[in-house]
Amino acid sequence: MLLEIPTILPPDQLAAARKAIEAADWIDGRATAGHQGARVKDNQQLPVDHPVARQVGEQIARALMANPLFLSAALPLHVLPPMFNRYTDGQNFGTHVDGAIRTIPGTGHRMRTDLSCTFFFAGPEEYDGGELIVEDTYGSKSVKLAAGHAILYPGTSLHRVTPVTRGTRLCSFFWIQSLIRRDAQRTMLFEMDTAIQRLGVESALHPSVVQLTGVYHNLLRQWAQL
Ligand code: NI
Repeated sequence: MLLEIPTILPPDQLAAARKAIEAADWIDGRATAGHQGARVKDNQQLPVDHPVARQVGEQIARALMANPLFLSAALPLHVLPPMFNRYTDGQNFGTHVDGAIRTIPGTGHRMRTDLSCTFFFAGPEEYDGGELIVEDTYGSKSVKLAAGHAILYPGTSLHRVTPVTRGTRLCSFFWIQSLIRRDAQRTMLFEMDTAIQRLGVESALHPSVVQLTGVYHNLLRQWAQL
């Protein structure tokens, strides 16, 4: 499932965070790429231990953990501290798959990358190209979102970023280990939760709301891996 999460940071916080990361010292993005990724990756990144990266990363992670749509869709167990990249002057990232396991910096704790998330700092009017292309069972999806919005997509998918031919694409990216490893199960739980929420608004006292909520939690109990 590909899902857009709108307005993770309000405009004032977004502007302040963007200013801080734009002023930081950037390095070659190949520093964190794996063997296959390094051959097709051409961008810049903030070092993971950069104080600005840590501070803004925490801000994004905190906002997500308070976002009902994100929580319902991702069912997060671990969120890797967000990282930051930018593409300019024809830079791009060819087709690749993200590594399955990542180590959380400073902890030695390893996590599975069930979901990938890209958060857009620059709006689509600021640059040409720079689309995130995600290959899905139904074909390729092209994603370029408004500033402050994020896209959530399965970590299993092949994806790429097309060359930026004007301006600068500035994003944060990170991975999530979900309580639910399988995308199909996670998608069903998300659809069920969405339907229950809607039913709860339209017909709060209907006894089926409680019954369906029970089924949702019992499925979660069956499938969740802690
Ligand atoms: Ni990737």
